[in-house]
Amino acid sequence: MTNRTLLERMSKKKTSRIPCWFMRQAGRYLPEYQEVRSKHGMLDVIRTPELAAKVTVQPLKRFDLDAAIIFADILNPLIGMGIELDYIKGEGPKIFNPILKPEDVQKLVVPPVEENIGYTLEAISKVKGEISVPLIGFSGAPFTLSSYMLEEGSPATGKSVKEFALNHPDAWKSLQEKLCDMIAQYAIAQVKAGADVIQLFDSWVGCLSPAEFDALVKPYLKVILSGIKSVSNVPVLYFGTGHCGLFSAIRDIGFDALGVDWRVQMSDVASVVGDQVPLQGNLDPALLFAPLDILENEVNRILEDATAIPWHIFNLGHGILPKTPIAAVEKVIATVRAYEKN
Ligand code: CP3
Repeated sequence: MTNRTLLERMSKKKTSRIPCWFMRQAGRYLPEYQEVRSKHGMLDVIRTPELAAKVTVQPLKRFDLDAAIIFADILNPLIGMGIELDYIKGEGPKIFNPILKPEDVQKLVVPPVEENIGYTLEAISKVKGEISVPLIGFSGAPFTLSSYMLEEGSPATGKSVKEFALNHPDAWKSLQEKLCDMIAQYAIAQVKAGADVIQLFDSWVGCLSPAEFDALVKPYLKVILSGIKSVSNVPVLYFGTGHCGLFSAIRDIGFDALGVDWRVQMSDVASVVGDQVPLQGNLDPALLFAPLDILENEVNRILEDATAIPWHIFNLGHGILPKTPIAAVEKVIATVRAYEKN
């Protein structure tokens, strides 16, 4: 690995280069990705190590990025637990047997990790031989995975997940424990296979109040973090969206770095979590559809604001959107590189 800037910033070392990567950087805005997807379904790509590795490396061949993220999804590890799902064209993921009652939780199993997602572990070792930047492994966090398993429609409101958690506290606890077990094993296996960083995606956590977060989420995040840290000192980043009211509750869990979406200023987050926590973010993915001069100004504004954080990692505030113009991605990276030189 010749470019370690992401790892250096995560371990609070000075770097003149600002590490820059994009969530969902391997995705549908890339014609070479679409070419692969025109021949293979989403689950086929994830489950075929050669294809997953190929797609992981695609954005690095095009852009000057400081990290790769292994190609998989947060939901496919649920299949081995007993959840039936597929990715429907134009709609996204669909779960065919959502959890509707406490007994449905009892049926879920935690399968041996190799058996469940061995293909991703194989893809990780393949990618490692091809890249000179750190490789990010990831998992969904328990709340967001529960949201998908419990909601029949979109998990945006959190209504079904809260209804279940509050009416069936024992089943909720059991579901969280099974997910924690799966997630910790999955993260550790990815690290053993070669992942240099673990990012936990908690995309739906923003529907919770701080008190709900403390009761329903926080204890389980602590279990996962200590599980990972008991076997490896790999940096663990926690990402959420719409969760600017939760940062003081998140702060003392002890994650190595935190992801920030665009609804809040990075410097405001730093004033809550302190300037000792590396922060990743936070360009609005929709801004990549703006005129390039407006985009450039916004990237510069974020970089300026992030001088409050000695260990800023440049990223979007959420995943890159389909149809994002390639020229916009190039503009963002060029703007970050130009800022470093000033
Ligand atoms: O970032 C990367 O490049 C690595 C791969 C990755 C994917 N999904 C591939 C994917 C990662 C890290 C994810 C995480 C993920 N998946 C999250 C957390 C981050 C977020 O965006 O909130 C969530 C909530 C999911 C669940 C999911 N998977 C949804 C809601 C969708 C449909 C919406 C969409 O963006 O298409 C997916 C499908 C999915 N996962 C695609 C990709 C590239 C698109 C599949 C396709 O090719 O059609």
